[in-house]
Amino acid sequence: YIMSKKIIAGNWKQNGNMKSSIQLAQDIIREVKKNNIKHEVIIFPPSLYLLPIKNINKKEIINLGSQNVSAYNDGALTGEISATMLKDSKIKYCLVGHSERRHILNENDLSLCEKVSRLHENNIRVIYCIGETLKEYKTKKTKYILNKQLRSLFENLNNSKRPNRVIIAYEPVWAIGTGLVPSAKELSITFDYIHNTVRRYNKSSKPIKLLYGGSVSPDNAESLMETQYIDGLLIGGASLIAKKFIDICSTI
Ligand code: PGA
Repeated sequence: YIMSKKIIAGNWKQNGNMKSSIQLAQDIIREVKKNNIKHEVIIFPPSLYLLPIKNINKKEIINLGSQNVSAYNDGALTGEISATMLKDSKIKYCLVGHSERRHILNENDLSLCEKVSRLHENNIRVIYCIGETLKEYKTKKTKYILNKQLRSLFENLNNSKRPNRVIIAYEPVWAIGTGLVPSAKELSITFDYIHNTVRRYNKSSKPIKLLYGGSVSPDNAESLMETQYIDGLLIGGASLIAKKFIDICSTI
C-alpha cells in the first residue's frame, strides 16, 4: 500500500517584494529539506519573482506555479503572460479560477476554460479553484454552484488531451482570508459531493486530486486533512510566513 503524496500549495497573491520573496522561498526550501517533508510542496509567488526563485530552487526541492495566465496565444495583448512563456520558463503549475480573479477581476467560466486549454497545450498542470460565495452558502446553493463550475470545467477538459493534469481546489469564498472554515460535517458533505460529481463528469480514468483552501492554519490543517477525499491544501495568508507554512506541511 503506497500512500499517495499530499499536495501543499502556497498562494502568495499580490504580496511581498524581491528581497522578501527570495527570503521566503529560501526559508521554505531549507525547511522542506531539513524536515524531510515528503509532500508535494508548490508555491505561487507573484510572476516577477518566479525566475529569481527558480534560480535558488535548482534541485527542485519544491515546485513553482504562476498565479495567472493569459487566455490567449502570443500576440498583441498588452500586459499578459502566456502559457507558452510559462512553459519556456519551465513553470510547472498555474492557478485558474481563484475567487479573487472570478469576483474582483470579473473572470467568467468561459475565459477560465480558455486558460485551462492554453495551459494544457503547453503541458502545464492546472489547479482549478471552485467555491460558493457567502450569499450562495447562506441560501443553500453550494451544490448547485459547484456543479455548475465543475460542469463547465469538464465540458472543456473532456475535449482536451491531458485531462489528468488538473487538480481541483474547493475554496468557499466566505472562508478565504476570514478565519472561518466549514465544519467537519459540512466539509465531509461537500467533498463527497465534489468527489461524486467529478467522477460523473471525468471521462479520463486518472483520478483527480482535490484540495481544500480557505483560512487554513497550523491549528486546523490536521483536522481538515481528516476529511475523506481531501488530498491537500491551498494556503493563502499562512503561506506568507515560512514557519506557519512549514508547520502545516509537518503536521499533516
Ligand atoms: P487564505 O487564502 O488561506 O488566506 O484564506 C486562501 C486562498 O485564497 O487560496
